Amino acid sequence: MMTAAQLAAVESPDEQQAFDALIAAEQRIEPRDWMPDAYRRTLIRQISQHAHSEIIGMQPEGNWITRAPSLKRKAILMAKVQDEAGHGLYLYSAAQTLGITRDEMTQQLIDGKAKYSSIFNYPTPTWADMGAIGWLVDGAAICNQVPLCRASYGPYGRAMVRICKEESFHQRQGFEILLTLMQGTEAQRDMAQDAVNRWYWPSLMMFGPPDDESPNSAQSMAWKIKRFSNDELRQRFVGMLVPQAEILGITLPDPELHWDEDHWHTSEIDWTEFHEVLSGRGPMNGTRLQNRRAAHEEGAWVREAAVAYAAKQAKKAEAAA
Ligand SMILES: [Fe+2]
Ligand SMILES: [Fe+2]
Repeated sequence: MMTAAQLAAVESPDEQQAFDALIAAEQRIEPRDWMPDAYRRTLIRQISQHAHSEIIGMQPEGNWITRAPSLKRKAILMAKVQDEAGHGLYLYSAAQTLGITRDEMTQQLIDGKAKYSSIFNYPTPTWADMGAIGWLVDGAAICNQVPLCRASYGPYGRAMVRICKEESFHQRQGFEILLTLMQGTEAQRDMAQDAVNRWYWPSLMMFGPPDDESPNSAQSMAWKIKRFSNDELRQRFVGMLVPQAEILGITLPDPELHWDEDHWHTSEIDWTEFHEVLSGRGPMNGTRLQNRRAAHEEGAWVREAAVAYAAKQAKKAEAAA
């Protein structure tokens, strides 16, 4: 039985029923469909955070474009960073179908009110970081995002299909950078190992807090936005890394890591670090936002010119008609 308050909250039981039926039948919710407010809010938060992560994520790697060790590496890295910009654009567009504007989302980001993935608040001091990011960060992104291709909200799921294809390329290029370094000199092998040591734990944290501390997960799973729990996805990721680390000849920096009957046993993750970085006290939080803000301000003339050009074209079309 519903309480009176709950009944009042369901303004239109028919619409709620239609929504529930679509979700139960594994059908997609489209922008034209009625949806509960909480579903809409959850998606706006998740998709916009995802878009911000793609855009902020361009910075740690953009840092190495001018210093890539060869023309070929430079071309690949540029393409990769450009892909991330594209991911941001598809995702901002998907979020816009839910009734938030691109300007609002950008403003939330540069005001420091919106979150983005904490992983991008770590520095990239060596070339091997390009390898470790591709292998670990894009690798974790794939594990997270492949199930999102089936997310119940149509525009989000469809954006994820193309994004995942590109992420697979990113992961392979990172792996290949590490493989090349591991076949090089001792200094190069040390550099690769050091980068993996620094990125391994933060990449495990990308899946979010453990299931028993992730209160919103159950609702997202009931809405079929999320398909697997944080810990399930983390397990899958570790299972993917172990054989690849063997091929690379790289040691994953966890002495306790081993297969234990039916799951990967790992050391305790340092969630204090995660929460510190999440709340803005990571090594690069300030720099990342400052760069994004500066890029937005320096790009103001481009936006103004585009608006002026559109107005001019509209006037011309009017005069011709
Ligand atoms: Fe991406
Ligand atoms: Fe990527």
